[in-house]
Amino acid sequence: MKNLIVGNWKLNPITQTEAKKIVARIKPTKEVDVVICPPHPFLAVIKFPLVGAQDCFWNSKGPFTGQVSPATLKSLKVKYCIVGHSERRNVGETDEQINEKIKELLVFGITPILCVGHGTTVEEDDLEVIEVIKEQLKKALKGIESEKVVVAYEPVWAISSGNPHATKRIATPEHVSRVALYIATKFKPMGVLYGGSVNAGNAEQFLQLPQINGALVGGASLIPSEFNAIVKIAKEVK
Ligand code: PGA
Repeated sequence: MKNLIVGNWKLNPITQTEAKKIVARIKPTKEVDVVICPPHPFLAVIKFPLVGAQDCFWNSKGPFTGQVSPATLKSLKVKYCIVGHSERRNVGETDEQINEKIKELLVFGITPILCVGHGTTVEEDDLEVIEVIKEQLKKALKGIESEKVVVAYEPVWAISSGNPHATKRIATPEHVSRVALYIATKFKPMGVLYGGSVNAGNAEQFLQLPQINGALVGGASLIPSEFNAIVKIAKEVK
């Protein structure tokens, strides 16, 4: 697959005017798949070649107040959907629910970006990280053709507070490469992304890893110059 750079805007910005302003400054390129994942309402207003959702419901029909279905996302030309982000797992989302969401997304031809990661610290033994993500992947991918799913490895302790230049502990390329290799060889997804405080200053060390096919970018994706620089690196490294 081409390198995939995904901008996860989380709940930013507040207004559609701001959303349009940010997206107007982001440069898509044919060498890299660049995906913008804004809050759901902005999916209907921003113009960008590839858009993704940050979450979805596991059913596309029925009395589910407040939910957004893969069927609706499809009608908005959404191509990707993040599932299992640690910020969703934090509010109680389970591996079984994530599995249902992935199944429903695939019915509508939307590529799931399944986030896995461990919620502790950088010092944690890599073996423990592997044990945790192994369980997350086994349950989330149960009964699913894994080559239809992109997996994003995001060490939870490395996810930033929104400021791409805040001093936050960042994963080492050795750690990321070891975990990505495990995911790629054991679960054979479509590709493996890295996420967690990626910015223009550190993207190269992750994007150049042979096991890594792109990045899931939070805070830095809201700053067009920063995000464009990450895309440029993705274009140059492979
Ligand atoms: P961050 O977020 O780049 O701001 O660390 C990544 C994510 O949460 O997907």
